[in-house]
Amino acid sequence: MSFDLAARLAERQAAHLFRQRPLLDSPQGPLVRVDGRQLLAFCSNDYLGLANHPDVIAAMRAGAEQWGVGGGASHLVIGHSTPHHELEEALAEFTGRPRALLFSTGYMANLAAVTALVGQGDTVLEDRINHASLLDAGLLSGARFSRYLHNDAASLASRLEKATGNTLVVTDGVFSMDGDLADLPALCAAAKQKQAWVMVDDAHGFGPLGATGGGIVEHFGLGLDDVQVLVGTLGKAFGTAGAFVAGSEELIETLIQFARPYIYTTSQPPAVACATLKSLELLRTEGWRREHLNKLIARFRAGAAEIGLRLMDSPTPIQPILVGDSARALQLSALLKERGLLVGAIRPPTVPAGSARLRVTLSAAHSEAQLEQLLQALAECWPQVKDHA
Ligand SMILES: Cc1ncc(COP(=O)(O)O)c(C=O)c1O
Repeated sequence: MSFDLAARLAERQAAHLFRQRPLLDSPQGPLVRVDGRQLLAFCSNDYLGLANHPDVIAAMRAGAEQWGVGGGASHLVIGHSTPHHELEEALAEFTGRPRALLFSTGYMANLAAVTALVGQGDTVLEDRINHASLLDAGLLSGARFSRYLHNDAASLASRLEKATGNTLVVTDGVFSMDGDLADLPALCAAAKQKQAWVMVDDAHGFGPLGATGGGIVEHFGLGLDDVQVLVGTLGKAFGTAGAFVAGSEELIETLIQFARPYIYTTSQPPAVACATLKSLELLRTEGWRREHLNKLIARFRAGAAEIGLRLMDSPTPIQPILVGDSARALQLSALLKERGLLVGAIRPPTVPAGSARLRVTLSAAHSEAQLEQLLQALAECWPQVKDHA
């Protein structure tokens, strides 16, 4: 017996599912250098254009001068420093929740929250197309794990009927590969009827959504009584790195005591927390970023409809173009690249079979002229891909 990795890789290549990492040789921004070429990118999650903001960079630099580079240890040993603590307090205030807890990545925050809350004898119910980290968390928890139909409160309700033990309903706030919003009012109402808790991972909602960038719960006006566990990530609209869970005093203390992905890892560099404190301030005070982004979203959707592209039901900066076949999705991405544009093709297993797509993402850093450039290129390329279907 041996591991036949070559055959496994060849199979993936033959199915047009081989993944490659574009080599970025510049900071994030609309104009990037990738694999030695300057390209106009529409595929980053830097929705508000903060990843390369001079004030955020200055905050990180000053943070490194004051606090050094490494976190040094886990939070429970001696890695929990003042910038981490201040950021947690600022995030609690921002989300209007009693407490928030900082994590090094969103993946870990999701693993931590689910596995600390449910285990054997309990139930975890998840949207079918939740982010991989949430699905992995559900499986890892050891709780009875079931997936309901996408965004379907009736499907959730029928699973809630069969739930045993403590029951946690888990959903993306903004679905990461589709851009649509979770129907939280209906999902939360179904959960409440059965005394289940709701956990929302709003990785893509914080920043772009809500009157002050407070994400999907602000958008729908929901509180702690509706969404008991609220997760945000800091590597997207915040432009930095890490994640947080916000909720009640008891929830956060439970995570500190029991969540293994929190306890057994080194804290993020304190300078990153300094940078995030600055980006949180910009996110809250510079509403023009959100307004400009919303204008770009509306213009993209109108322009795409004229071209005849198949978009999804998304009011967010995630505007996927549904192609279907993986080879065609790759072809469209390659045609755009020939014209100097970078948009990634997203294929199974990240999305369901037969639903390969170009995941266009917009940022407040894009200009209107850059968006017109994308629409122009799509108008030229789309008919070529269609004809070869
Ligand atoms: C919905 C969602 N949750 C969680 C994550 C993971 O967050 P992080 O990149 O901080 O690990 C991502 C993507 O990265 C995501 O799209």
